[in-house]
Amino acid sequence: MTDPNAHILANYGRFPQCFVKGEGSWLIDDQGERYLDFLAGIAVNVIGHGHPHLVKAIQDQAATLLHTSNLFQIKQQQELADRLSALGAGERVFFCNSGAEANETAFKAVRLWANVKHEGRKAKIIAAENGFHGRSLGALSLTGRPEYQKGFEPLFNVEFVPYGDVDAMNSAMGNDVAGVFLEPLQGEGGVNVPPDGYLAAVRALCDEYEALLCIDEVQTGIARTGKMFSFQHANIQPDVVQMAKGLGGGVPIGAVAMSQAVADLLVPGTHGSTFGGNHLACAAANAVLDIVCAEGFLERVNLAAQRLRDGLPGIFGDQLVELRGQGLLIGAQITELPKSMLKHCLDAKIVCGTAGGGVLRLAPPLTVSDDEIDEALGRIKTAWQAALNESA
Ligand SMILES: Cc1ncc(COP(=O)(O)O)c(C=O)c1O
Repeated sequence: MTDPNAHILANYGRFPQCFVKGEGSWLIDDQGERYLDFLAGIAVNVIGHGHPHLVKAIQDQAATLLHTSNLFQIKQQQELADRLSALGAGERVFFCNSGAEANETAFKAVRLWANVKHEGRKAKIIAAENGFHGRSLGALSLTGRPEYQKGFEPLFNVEFVPYGDVDAMNSAMGNDVAGVFLEPLQGEGGVNVPPDGYLAAVRALCDEYEALLCIDEVQTGIARTGKMFSFQHANIQPDVVQMAKGLGGGVPIGAVAMSQAVADLLVPGTHGSTFGGNHLACAAANAVLDIVCAEGFLERVNLAAQRLRDGLPGIFGDQLVELRGQGLLIGAQITELPKSMLKHCLDAKIVCGTAGGGVLRLAPPLTVSDDEIDEALGRIKTAWQAALNESA
């Protein structure tokens, strides 16, 4: 039999499942098997699969106008920027297509802050060990994971500090610092929530040294953590906010919101994207916001999160080292998570993820029902038992 992936770059490890349809919190494969989706395309499908409001918005927009380029006015983009700004992301918004691109944009903004606003007196950029900001060269330079950077040197010069450690940030800070890049909680790195007060302390340091605080909400933004943006749990206002993933509910779109002071630097000709913020992507994102901004939506995310969290300790017992996360981005650190756990999850007809070392990551659609959560807990238990039996 010929390999169906023969002409696809082999840069991903893939499971054999081939999903062909989605319904709410469910994925259906090409054999007709139904799986509960507790990963949501890695925190992307925030309103589940096939949500009728999103489907209609995409269909209507596709039938009307897909794209014109940013040489012209785009009403859907104007509406989306107004809404993101009103939600507290920042005064001005730039649109792109992915999380890595959003971080590239923020990186360029920091460079202008250093070179134009501060006339080259600032050169240093700080990011966190174990962080993740994407795979393009700028975003990779900000990613504190040597195993991802290896082989791609030379990268941009970034100083890495331990995540969640105010003293380390304090020591690294100075008048030469142009920007600090942080996730409000580290997703890929293991669903690591920083200690209370950490983000506020970093905000204060950035203010003191006139450094831009760039908060990467690519994984955590758009209601994932039970607030529209995770930084809102810490009551801070970043200078720059990078987002993507959940914003389009599955349609590729990225965005960078920023303060007016930063926006003033990005004058015509400094940055751009052909596809960024086109009619289709913005129509989808506006439809996603219609749902997640509805009254009671965030409260429901928090209730669902509590139900899911409450059920996990009973499954893993004393193997559960720590249950971490915010809202419906949950990480269960297990003493020894068998490598085969995700395969056993798939055998039990549930899609889950991992993060960092030994962390089972759950990020279901935010529209998940109580019954689906209960069903998921049963399936995770089945998978865990199978994994234990296998390693016994
Ligand atoms: C926090 C964060 N930033 C950036 C990215 C990169 O996003 P993309 O894969 O859309 O480039 C990710 C992806 O997982 C992420 O979690």
